[in-house]
Amino acid sequence: MNIVGLNGKIISMGSINMDLVMFMDRFPEPGETVVTDNFSTFPGGKGGNQGVTASVLGGKVKYFGKLGEDAFSLQLKKALNERGVDTASILVDKTSTAGIAIILVNKQSQNLISFTPGANALLTPEEVREHKELFETGAILLSSMEINPETVYESIRIANENGMFIILDPAPAPKEKFPEDIPALVNIIKPNETEASFITGIKVTDFVSAELALKSLSRMGFLYPIITLGEQGSIAYIDGKSVRIPPYKVESIDSTAAGDVFSGALAASLATGGNLEEALNFASIAAALCTTVKGAQSSIPSLAQVRALF
Ligand code: RIB
Repeated sequence: MNIVGLNGKIISMGSINMDLVMFMDRFPEPGETVVTDNFSTFPGGKGGNQGVTASVLGGKVKYFGKLGEDAFSLQLKKALNERGVDTASILVDKTSTAGIAIILVNKQSQNLISFTPGANALLTPEEVREHKELFETGAILLSSMEINPETVYESIRIANENGMFIILDPAPAPKEKFPEDIPALVNIIKPNETEASFITGIKVTDFVSAELALKSLSRMGFLYPIITLGEQGSIAYIDGKSVRIPPYKVESIDSTAAGDVFSGALAASLATGGNLEEALNFASIAAALCTTVKGAQSSIPSLAQVRALF
């Protein structure tokens, strides 16, 4: 089943952040200080990570988002450009700064992330409408939710009016319920287990509970719900049947951005003619490989690396 067709262009939206990352044996307890000399900065942000992944893995990606005029904003735009992402449509708010994420990574490759959105939060639904010609040129809208949710919903509506295929990575899960019209406009929704639990109210821990949550997402109106379960793999609900995608086993050192890489790879595969089952396997390999390297955009595997295991 070929969903999107060949030569699909991707409009990528979401946050672009500078990640300030400390690697440590274990996380501090509240009130405790843990010392580490292992610190790095990496270009990140769920939207930026997805856009770069889709570009590196074969998609033609245009980014629509907002940055400031600070040093991080300039570095982040350069990082997107260097990986083939068209940044001409990124808006600049001169009074603001780029989003920043403070990330702690422990020995088990788990992470704790806190995030301040900066300019990301300033992209408005009105600006989406003002730039609606962008959506006439794309085949796939790939969006996550570290920006104003109303902006995401408006872009989904406009993308749908333009016949685009819409992939929503609801990360982080929105605090309010989706507006009534949104689920039916979204083709693929891809929460992880935590986001799926939050959105459906079903505690997702394994394939069995994930299947219940998938059915709930399907009843809400989402066409193809997919839930990622970290090291357990992922599961999709396609035309009334659940499809389990086994995990690709790797030696993981940093799981940051694995979910973003999954979504970006899924979009790239669909945009270049892959069917949904192929795209799921492709995404699962890309996400696993990303956990073997430190950082967010720095850990996105190459097309050759993913193809070699596909
Ligand atoms: O999903 C990982 C991303 O979440 C990081 O790159 C960080 O910027 C936060 O947005």
